[in-house]
Amino acid sequence: MNIFVTGGAGFIGSNFITHVLGLSQEYSIVNFDKLTYAGNLANLDSIASNPQYTFIQGDICDPAAVAAAMAGCHTVVHFAAESHVDRTIDDPAPAIATNVTGTFVLLQIALKLNIKKFLHVSSDEVYGDLPLGTFADENSQLRPSSPYSASKASSDLIVRSYVRSFDFPAVITRASNNYGPFQFPEKFLPLLITNALEDKPLPIYGDGKQERNWLHVTDHCRGILAVLERGRIGEVYNIGGLDAIENLTLARRVLRATGKTESLLSHVKDRPGHDRRYALTCEKMERELGWKPSISLDQGLHKTIEWYRSNTAWLAGVRGGEYLTYYQKHYANRGPSGQFIAESGRNSPER
Ligand code: NAD
Ligand code: TYD
Repeated sequence: MNIFVTGGAGFIGSNFITHVLGLSQEYSIVNFDKLTYAGNLANLDSIASNPQYTFIQGDICDPAAVAAAMAGCHTVVHFAAESHVDRTIDDPAPAIATNVTGTFVLLQIALKLNIKKFLHVSSDEVYGDLPLGTFADENSQLRPSSPYSASKASSDLIVRSYVRSFDFPAVITRASNNYGPFQFPEKFLPLLITNALEDKPLPIYGDGKQERNWLHVTDHCRGILAVLERGRIGEVYNIGGLDAIENLTLARRVLRATGKTESLLSHVKDRPGHDRRYALTCEKMERELGWKPSISLDQGLHKTIEWYRSNTAWLAGVRGGEYLTYYQKHYANRGPSGQFIAESGRNSPER
């Protein structure tokens, strides 16, 4: 099976490529990635010389580049996106371009090329804020809150329209918050881990009582492959992890696991429109495809902390100028003055 992967140099895409190529030589992968700030070929060092793997740099909004790169592939797994909620609140334009228009371009080309299956990787955030005690299933209403989740929900609906209008062989997955190796440290869990390891403050938006469900990226990759191989055309599949936890409790767990004290916790200005709670039911994945998550947050967190502890060169590589500029701009005015100040190669707390 020749798989066209978009966004394969990002966090989940790179884990997926490494996972799939490690399973069998039956798969070949073309990784098509623009290499935005979030794309990093170092994530793929372990498979870069694998003969089953090809990298092509390109933008999914560029139809000619997509058509040339996708030719000869049988299936598509579409990860490429602007994936960070906070950045899409600062500036929604890149998310609308990549997540909406880029997905449309891919669908157009995939339809023309007679692609056999198109897996659109989406998010639990499309269901929006869920009241305590409720869980979103695949038929729940889409009620996105941020430009990020609205752009993902929009692309989900465009994919659905291709299935209905053009008999296009697409499937959609909606996953909860991922964590694991190679995650860019602007996201909450790697930010908690890397700041804790360096005795820097852990920024907690608002009261920290927001709840997220945590899915280890390896469980997500297994789920995506199951849907790619056996998922029913036109269907949506929720993919969630074993543990739901409030942000503040998660931060406390990271502090305990890294041997740091709670004096590092820093409540900062909240995210506008911040969803309090995401929650999924994933029975369909188990019932239809025999998939369920296998890695508990306890196990996965310890492994992930060890990964960030041992991969300091990777971390230094991703925390370059662009990251520092973002970190400085995003956090400088959120917390107590001077607490979140970036210095070269580090984001430093003055504690
Ligand atoms: P990421 O930000 O780490 O990686 C995104 C990748 O897409 C990068 O390699 C980037 O270079 C590439 N990219 C961005 N714009 C592009 C464009 N126009 N053309 C080609 N490539 C482009 O994201 P991630 O966390 O790995 O997320 C991957 C997918 O999974 C996204 O679609 C996201 O919405 C979805 N998802 C993520 C999570 C999560 O917790 N991270 C949860 C559920 C769903
Ligand atoms: P994030 O990793 O941005 O994922 P998402 O917004 O897609 O769920 O954030 C996870 C949770 O952590 C979310 O409730 C926002 C919160 N958060 C903080 O409290 N502080 C931070 O510095 C960041 C980046 C996130």
